[in-house]
Amino acid sequence: MKNTKWYENAIIYQIYPRSFMDSNNDGLGDIPGIISKLDYLKELGVNCVWLSPVYDSPQQDNGYDIKNYVDIYPPFGNLDDFKLMLDEMHKRGIRLIMDLVVNHTSDEHKWFIEAKKSKDNPYRDYYIWKKGKGKKNKRPNNWLGFFGAPAWEYDKTTDEYYLHLFDKKQPDLNWENPKIIEEVKSLMKFWLDMGVDGFRCDVINLISKDQRFKSSLQIPAGAKYYVNGPRLHEFLHEINKDVLSNYDCMTVGETAFTTLEDARLLTAPERQELNTIFNFDHTSSDNFMGIKWLYRKFSLPRMKKSFKKWQVGNIWGWNTLFIENHDQRRCVGRFNTNDKELRVESSKMLGTMCYFQKGTPYIYQGQEIGMTNAYFKDLNQYQDTEVFTIHKLLTKLHLPKKFIDFTIPNGARDNARTPMQWDDSEYAGFSKSKPWLSVNENKSYINVEEAKKDPNSILNYYKKLIQVHKEQKEIINKGDYVDLCINHKKIYAYTRTYNNETLLCISNFSNKETKYKLPKHLLNKEKELLLNNYEVSNINEETLILKPYETRLYKLK
Ligand code: NOJ
Repeated sequence: MKNTKWYENAIIYQIYPRSFMDSNNDGLGDIPGIISKLDYLKELGVNCVWLSPVYDSPQQDNGYDIKNYVDIYPPFGNLDDFKLMLDEMHKRGIRLIMDLVVNHTSDEHKWFIEAKKSKDNPYRDYYIWKKGKGKKNKRPNNWLGFFGAPAWEYDKTTDEYYLHLFDKKQPDLNWENPKIIEEVKSLMKFWLDMGVDGFRCDVINLISKDQRFKSSLQIPAGAKYYVNGPRLHEFLHEINKDVLSNYDCMTVGETAFTTLEDARLLTAPERQELNTIFNFDHTSSDNFMGIKWLYRKFSLPRMKKSFKKWQVGNIWGWNTLFIENHDQRRCVGRFNTNDKELRVESSKMLGTMCYFQKGTPYIYQGQEIGMTNAYFKDLNQYQDTEVFTIHKLLTKLHLPKKFIDFTIPNGARDNARTPMQWDDSEYAGFSKSKPWLSVNENKSYINVEEAKKDPNSILNYYKKLIQVHKEQKEIINKGDYVDLCINHKKIYAYTRTYNNETLLCISNFSNKETKYKLPKHLLNKEKELLLNNYEVSNINEETLILKPYETRLYKLK
């Protein structure tokens, strides 16, 4: 079947189902809740949803630990609810991509329950088992999991360790076993045949492990033996050939630690693997190596260089554009912006800066109303398993309390997972019962109902932004990207040019007024202001005086 590359014209909205909308007041979001908000999404203007996992799961990692790939987690609903949601989305011109989590399962998946029983169980080889080392039966190697705990768990019954790159309740699948790829193909067909439009492929570049299972001293320990591992491309090509190529669907791979060359291997169309990937380079503008616990001061030139690398360097494929998701803290208040008195200006600026680059925009639920980080102070307020393992690690390393007290609230994923703020009622219109994670107190003024009423709200700005995005699609999709002042510490200015038409996007990343002199080649052009977050009295000035977090999108002819 021909792939129509519809994703190049998609604006994707990510739903984190636990926190989106609770229809039955059990404190947990659910599928009927999502259905009830589809008109809201339609009005916003998005045309695709990425749905974080809704599969049956013990929820150790909020659904990224799957116990049954072809059923729904009962508190979220059932397969009929899912089909209805899909249908209602399609009726509104909204496509649906699901999360595909196949690096690991839950330890409560029937495959793992069997695998644990004995070394000769038919499911044993579905997972990665190794003997302990030496007399002390130590872990097979020094690999550290992504949540900051050792990646091996000892299992008494068979006296062996199993590998888990995430929580110990998320054992890694053994892709060396040919049965795994067949299982994966079959579950993908199940959903594609039902009508879903593609997959966001969770940590997909970790599925192939170097079979020597060597220790490594490089941080993160072991990564060089499992990130973009030896058989990754072979596996992805096979899936593409046998499944994906039969549908007009899209894939976006979640691929941390990926270079441009890795990306080319994963997404060059003739290689038939994935359509697109998420790279995380720009998220390192305030941390080391994209690891959010390793905070460093934000640098705008570093951010611009990361964006430019992909805008200019990705010549074979298609980019993805995001500044938030369920694993990152909220963007407003981050990247040197202000989540208090200049929250509205900051939020509008960040969205404008990001989405007029080349690639598919991803908007994370709540971003469109400028929801802010929770920064919970008390460890008991957190729900995320990662927080607890990281806290344990930092404590074990005897790091100063002051450091830990900053690092946890700064990096915690729960920051972006607080319930969606629909109105100012007790639980923000998300539920009538106490939600699974506390609602942010600022729901009294940051909520959808308020935002709808205010013509200057972030929500109304996002609606306009999406509209402008649709209207300027040709330049956005085909135009060259030029950064006008890459070393400037406060201004981010870039142009997109196609067929003598230019989009000029200028943003002030500072809380102070900042001057910016337009380059000569942009003067004397006819200018039209498409988007702005402050009033602009004279659109023809040569030196712009940009207010704190001011952003402007011009069209020049
Ligand atoms: C990446 C997901 O985005 C994250 O939420 C999850 O914890 C890990 N993969 C493990 O599945």
